[in-house]
Amino acid sequence: MTIKHFLQFNDLARDEIEYIFERAAWIKTQFKSYQQYWPLSDRTLVMIFEKASTRTRLSFEAGMQQLGGSAIYLNTRDSQLGRGEPVEDAAQVISRMSDIVMIRTFEQSIIERFAANSRVPVINGLTNEYHPCQILADIFTFIEHRGSIQGKTVAWIGDSNNVCNTWLQAAEVLDFNVHVSTPPGYEVEPERANLYGTDHFEEFKDPMDAARDADLVTTDVWTSMGFEAENEERRKDFADWQVDEDMMRIAKKDALFMHCLPAHRGEEVAAEVIDGPHSVVWDEAENRLHVQKALMEYLLLGKV
Ligand code: CP
Ligand code: NVA
Repeated sequence: MTIKHFLQFNDLARDEIEYIFERAAWIKTQFKSYQQYWPLSDRTLVMIFEKASTRTRLSFEAGMQQLGGSAIYLNTRDSQLGRGEPVEDAAQVISRMSDIVMIRTFEQSIIERFAANSRVPVINGLTNEYHPCQILADIFTFIEHRGSIQGKTVAWIGDSNNVCNTWLQAAEVLDFNVHVSTPPGYEVEPERANLYGTDHFEEFKDPMDAARDADLVTTDVWTSMGFEAENEERRKDFADWQVDEDMMRIAKKDALFMHCLPAHRGEEVAAEVIDGPHSVVWDEAENRLHVQKALMEYLLLGKV
């Protein structure tokens, strides 16, 4: 069997994503009713973190245990990964001792080099370029609240970062539209986002125009991990790109608000929005657990 990795959103086809959503809904229901489901007993997940995390670590570690397996946490501070062992060598060794690997790192090329030398599936737990598990959870959350996302409009306000790039890829795979507004100088780079074309997204100078009539308004921090040196400059450049109540009013009446978290109230989002009636951020965070369990089940067992 060829190994399937999930290094970016478009590594999976539409029918595979839809299957994972179906499984996530079933796994979530079982979990909520305390039904034991251990399809991955004796399987081991290795989680490698080169950047900080709360949700990703917790959801993968808890998720693997809930599926009957175990999870091992490695970080660059106290493993040989931080002391210059080649990624290719680490991949050979780690993948001989485990069944599946999740990596959070810097450049996408690192995870690609790891995957090319791995005997087991590799999952992207966030890179500078993409955050595919996040968007799986976000779209699953959208479907739970509003039904199919096909043909809907998602407004992305702020930085054209890893989360934005992944929304753009997902729009191509699942056929919806993304309206993006970034400050000048921070526009989407279609090549970096690895898009097939530009027919699923449109860029707007004014964030209010991007948000107009959107079904979902979403944003993320102005400065992503690894770019901290740009923090001060970005705070000035992004000052007009806060999702506030006026922006939510111009979106559809029943528009949802999402944020991958952690959030900075008063910067990219007003407290009234993230803590207000449109916000589904806690469902979004919880759903990381359920969709990633379905993802690991699929990558290890195929369709069950
Ligand atoms: N959204 C997300 O990936 O959160 P963490 O950085 O806490 O894992
Ligand atoms: N864009 C953010 C997401 C954090 C979950 C970052 O990369 O830091």
